Amino acid sequence: MRTINSEKYFKEAKKNLVGGVNSPVRSFKGVGGQALVMKRGLRAQLFDYDNNAYTDYCLSWGALILGHAHRNTILAAKKTVEKGTSFGTTTREEIDMAAHIVKAVPSIERIRFVNSGTEATMSAIRLARGFTQRELLVKFDGCYHGHFDDLLTKAGSGVSQLKESSSLGIPKAHVNNTISLPYNDSEVLEKTLKKFQKEIACVIIEPVAGNMGVIPARTEFLQLLRDLTKRFNIVLIFDEIMTGFRTNAGCVQSDYKIISDMTCLGKIIGGGFPIGAYGGREEIMNCLAPLGGVYQAGTFSGNPVVMKTGLAALKLLNKDFYRVLNERCEQFAQHMNAYFTEKGISAHLSHYKSMMSIRFRSELVDNYDDALAAAGGEVYSRLFHYLLKMGIYWPPADLEAFFVSSAHSKNDLNQLADALKKFFNNKV
Ligand SMILES: Cc1ncc(COP(=O)(O)O)c(C=O)c1O
Repeated sequence: MRTINSEKYFKEAKKNLVGGVNSPVRSFKGVGGQALVMKRGLRAQLFDYDNNAYTDYCLSWGALILGHAHRNTILAAKKTVEKGTSFGTTTREEIDMAAHIVKAVPSIERIRFVNSGTEATMSAIRLARGFTQRELLVKFDGCYHGHFDDLLTKAGSGVSQLKESSSLGIPKAHVNNTISLPYNDSEVLEKTLKKFQKEIACVIIEPVAGNMGVIPARTEFLQLLRDLTKRFNIVLIFDEIMTGFRTNAGCVQSDYKIISDMTCLGKIIGGGFPIGAYGGREEIMNCLAPLGGVYQAGTFSGNPVVMKTGLAALKLLNKDFYRVLNERCEQFAQHMNAYFTEKGISAHLSHYKSMMSIRFRSELVDNYDDALAAAGGEVYSRLFHYLLKMGIYWPPADLEAFFVSSAHSKNDLNQLADALKKFFNNKV
């Protein structure tokens, strides 16, 4: 595979951009080799500067559920941008987008838009602390909620590539404010929440984790979390930045029929543009300025181009859309897992509808320790580079999920299945 131009541009990138990237995993540090510099995307495909085409299963880290450059989103963006790009006032586009999300997501009665997922979780936690007048924060090992200081403990995803379980530069006070618990462990959860019930402001969780590979929370665990947080007046925050609008319009909370006090969104709702949002019960949200005493603001928050484009995407995500996409993914995962079992191959796909990840063992993965034990390490790197050669772009890091969009055809998935089979049969 020729990557001369990627090499050239990445060298140039490193002159002024730290490590050549604006987000660490893009550097291919987790898999080695030449990071790629992409030129354009269309439907399920990405094209680099050497004109290699790749079927993309990274999809801008799960944001592009319609694939690249969907006509409706491009038209919406073009039409809106012609009217001006940012006004620093309330706009019609924000009003429409807010109405759409409030109607769709059960836990959201009021919403605030921001510019990234990190900003959403960070602000949601400040609000929960302001609302409860408490400081402690509980999260779960392997869940990633963005790069906010209080949340970078045992954070899975790209953070798992650091030597420490957290980042340098985080004051001890922030770490001391955070308790990280094992995912799906009801006993530890109950003990901890009981013990610190008067000090815990909020619990934040990915109800289906996607940053230690894909791990759906056990229903009884999530229900216990809901019951305990309600009993102790702790704010329960669902981080649905990755799962929001990925599996259905009501997000994962409507699948589980477990409703949080607050929900964070991002990725898909921007239709391919930078976005974040947090929302929840009116009583909590009304503590935000200008109505309440918790401050949070943003020059570009609720940008009309982003809102219009995001809403154009969300309008396409109806029941039929999810039925077709989810069924296609279910069939693919079942087919692959049956194959692994039949051939006695020690691997499986853990998945939740169109979010999936590969595990290098047969046993199910239930928490972060399992995820680390089931990671492929050097084998994942080989698999990643093998897939690249076959024209398939996967996330360049072991613990990241991969995603399928509505632009991926059955043939695309068949091509992926064939490539995986060849790899695991040691034919490569
Ligand atoms: C579950 C989850 N929360 C928060 C974030 C942070 O979002 P952003 O990268 O937009 O800051 C991510 C990003 O991958 C995520 O997967």
